[in-house]
Amino acid sequence: MRLRNVKDAKERIDEAKKLIMDIPRNEKYPLDQVFNDGKPLEIEIGAGKGQFSHSLAKRQKATNHIAIEKFDSVIIRALEKLQEDPVDNLFLARCDAEQLSDFFGSNTVDKIYLNFSDPWPKARHEKRRLTHENFLKQYEEILKPEGVIEFKTDNRSLFEFSIQSLNHYGMVFEFISLDLHKDDIEDNIVTEFEERFSKHGPIYKLIARFKRGGN
Ligand SMILES: C[S@@+](CC[C@H](N)C(=O)[O-])C[C@H]1O[C@@H](n2cnc3c(N)ncnc32)[C@H](O)[C@@H]1O
Repeated sequence: MRLRNVKDAKERIDEAKKLIMDIPRNEKYPLDQVFNDGKPLEIEIGAGKGQFSHSLAKRQKATNHIAIEKFDSVIIRALEKLQEDPVDNLFLARCDAEQLSDFFGSNTVDKIYLNFSDPWPKARHEKRRLTHENFLKQYEEILKPEGVIEFKTDNRSLFEFSIQSLNHYGMVFEFISLDLHKDDIEDNIVTEFEERFSKHGPIYKLIARFKRGGN
């Protein structure tokens, strides 16, 4: 995502502590205590300006949602949306996905959404892809045993890499679409990037879970 410096983003994030938490690197925050009503918890990693999580939280009132994004200048847009149109089952977190297992306990998350994750096309940047094995290890730790990852992208190379990475990790695929908008869009919530890029080619989607206890 192209970043423009947004004036005062950091200050505005600090002021809105009821809606968003800023988690600097190497710091911990009990994000799992943000909601204590016992509802299932779903998180989006790399949420950008938050359109997807905002719509999802409005649609799924019986579930709590946390939208995670690493840049102030991007998540400030999600914060503005949440201030204009409050949704009490959505919370924002400004932090890096690398910190996930510092603040989500083991077996606490019901679903992880990865939408249009940055493709990092150069081989030397492979470890930054959010479907790299290093991230899968963290997802496995925080997801409940029956939890799933839902991933969509317009980037074929990233999709191929992700299938290989998840397969190599031993994950079980529950759904794969090579053209989501043709196959099944009834419940689909369109993200900002999806809106922009679905005109130019297919959207790929997969749903997968970790193998637990040998099944
Ligand atoms: C291409 S955008 C997609 C935004 C949104 N999910 C959508 O579909 O419109 C990817 C977003 O992921 C964020 N991101 C990339 N790596 C991340 C990481 N390690 N932790 C948190 N956010 C990350 C980027 O800053 C960017 O806003």
